[in-house]
Amino acid sequence: MISSLLYVPGNAPRFLEKAGQRGADVVIVDLEDAVPEAAKTEARDGLEKWVPEIKRGGCQVFVRVNQSDRLVEDAIAATLAGADALYIPKVEGPDILAGLDKTLTAHEGNRAPISFVPLIEDMKGLFEVRAIAQGPRVIALTAGGEDLATAMGARPTPEVLRYPKLMIHYAAKEAGVLSFGMLRTTVDFADKDALRAAAMEARDFGFDGASCIHPSVVPILNECFAPSPEEVEWARKVLAANDENAAAGRGAFMLEGKFIDAPIVTRARNLLARFEKGRATL
Ligand code: COA
Ligand code: MG
Repeated sequence: MISSLLYVPGNAPRFLEKAGQRGADVVIVDLEDAVPEAAKTEARDGLEKWVPEIKRGGCQVFVRVNQSDRLVEDAIAATLAGADALYIPKVEGPDILAGLDKTLTAHEGNRAPISFVPLIEDMKGLFEVRAIAQGPRVIALTAGGEDLATAMGARPTPEVLRYPKLMIHYAAKEAGVLSFGMLRTTVDFADKDALRAAAMEARDFGFDGASCIHPSVVPILNECFAPSPEEVEWARKVLAANDENAAAGRGAFMLEGKFIDAPIVTRARNLLARFEKGRATL
């Protein structure tokens, strides 16, 4: 279960040092937009040190690579450093994933194949999103809101971004991969109430988790995206009642005044599976 992903600039040792202890399920070491051009090679060279060090904190480490002539070298360095996945910016179609898949296989030796998380950040990627979601090694999709807005000549307001973000989300769900993000993003990470509302809304839509750029947001994401104790209790009740009713030949029934049938039972089962999986990774 991945509820929280914390971005850390790959050239910022003072953030990288404690990144693994911030409680995030995933630390994304960024080589792309948070790192100025002059520091990019040094940041890539630092992966060898930082990836294993951050992983010792018990989280997964993803690396956001550059979508430029640096792509292949960034991806190989992340793979050799032991990163769990690549965040790949500005993916416009599945071909780039197939190419990387082939290149990286040659460098993986005994390690498990590194996974891919394509970022959809322009109109081409948006209209190719279903094929991208089905690409090799893809475990999740996410939208790059600022870049999408720029590509549309728009401002990144929630209303502008809602439709493209949902398209990307639906493609992830169709492909059976994780979907990261929120329909509203808050630049002001000190506004805890707004953050909590945005995360709960994303959760209601079926997003699996979201990224953030400051450690103070991590506990909010962990709390909002994980099933609450009340939900777990509800799911257990629904499944128990379903067993009883199914034994009596009933597929639909009333529970505490609420109508329950197959899709609701499936939802309860999925919620419990998510909860058990989250506990197993604690
Ligand atoms: N990852 C890990 N630790 C972080 C962090 C991050 N992204 N952002 C801040 N911290 C740490 C600081 O080191 C400090 O730790 P300490 O109290 O143990 O010394 C603590 O959190 C508080 O930091 P604060 O002073 O509030 O933050 P700041 O003003 O130094 O930095 C930002 C604010 C936005 C510049 C910084 O959070 C950042 O660079 N975030 C990542 C940006 C990024 O990756 N962007 C690309 C993706 S969109
Ligand atoms: Mg971007």
